[in-house]
Amino acid sequence: MFRSDFPIFQTHPDLVFLDSASSAQKPQQVIDAMSNYLSTNYSNIHRGAYDLSMESSLLYEKAKKAVAEKLSARADEIVFTYNATYAFNFLSRSLVKSGLLWRWDTVLLSKVDHHANIVPWQILAEEYGIIIDWVDLHDDGTIDYDSLASKFPHAKVLSITGASNVTGEVLDLDRVKSMFDTLSTRPIFVLDGSQRFPHMATDVSKYSIDFYVGTGHKVMSDTGIGFFYGRKELLQKMNPAFCGGGAINSVSTDWYEAAGLPFRHEPGTPHIVGAVSLLTALEYIDSIGGYAAVEHYERELTEYALEQFGTLPSTIRLIGSKKSENRLGVFSFVFDNHHPNDVAETLADAGICVRAGHHCTDPLHQSLGIRGSLRASLYIYNTREDVDTLVEKLKNL
Ligand SMILES: Cc1ncc(COP(=O)(O)O)c(C=O)c1O
Repeated sequence: MFRSDFPIFQTHPDLVFLDSASSAQKPQQVIDAMSNYLSTNYSNIHRGAYDLSMESSLLYEKAKKAVAEKLSARADEIVFTYNATYAFNFLSRSLVKSGLLWRWDTVLLSKVDHHANIVPWQILAEEYGIIIDWVDLHDDGTIDYDSLASKFPHAKVLSITGASNVTGEVLDLDRVKSMFDTLSTRPIFVLDGSQRFPHMATDVSKYSIDFYVGTGHKVMSDTGIGFFYGRKELLQKMNPAFCGGGAINSVSTDWYEAAGLPFRHEPGTPHIVGAVSLLTALEYIDSIGGYAAVEHYERELTEYALEQFGTLPSTIRLIGSKKSENRLGVFSFVFDNHHPNDVAETLADAGICVRAGHHCTDPLHQSLGIRGSLRASLYIYNTREDVDTLVEKLKNL
């Protein structure tokens, strides 16, 4: 439905792009906004008294406001980063630096999580002796909520994916919240929204989310811009793991004083044009009817895809839930008779873009007893014809 807004499909009319979980295509509006900003408005932010710099600063702040609105948060609770991976590294390290997380404290992850939300914590386990525990999965790769319920009361931090980049499972936040409500103290709750943010809004305070991590390129902005939301009280307590220009109030030869929120967490010159692109991507979503329209379109397409995948031979198996509830249009397959890499190559020859491998989720694949899978993922520019072309090719492997 929204396909004509994306020039890549004019350049490549036969393209079947099923790799948006990796990175989304960009609408004309985002491409134009970046180009216009660079031609008419570009300057560094926060450091100039002149108009260009002030206008750039306003746009940068407007981008934060736009992100905050999608999370029912405040603009000064949004910190821009380069991507989700950087955000997890920054956050986890800053929690330790602030004494909010320390030796023998448990960080609870789930086996469905992306390496970006695993390895930074593992490094802290090596360096500081924090303990990592895992929420188990069912045999189909979906989250075992009983395992989550039994483990989270012992955790100092729960850091978990808000939507899986392999099974497409969307974390049931109502269920997590009702678990939290049974305790007087709950863990610091970090949600990996990398796959969630492109498809839906999330009210962070309603679900007691302390930190929400996102990455812009999956929501149609440029690469190199990501963010995290931090609950204000925690952001204030948090000593940034990295610091430097732009993130301090004053520096002497033997001391420095970190700046206020949120700049203390954004050292150095940020990706300003990236912020402009993220702002425009979110304005684009608003212009097509907001997340409600995105969700509506994707739900129908996901239901259609699941129906069609039901007609595939039994030698091709879909990982994760076969139902459209609590699910994104992210579908991963394993094959009895083929290696996923070979299938990806065959599909690439037919102009179909998918991904093969572990998708940065080794623990998930290990818990399923497989080494890799083939992933096809949908976004707003995909059509039923894309699904049909994929199914047709898979049937004829
Ligand atoms: C669930 C999830 N978390 C984190 C990331 C990391 O995102 P980035 O590479 O933009 O840092 C990804 C990217 O694929 C992801 O799917």
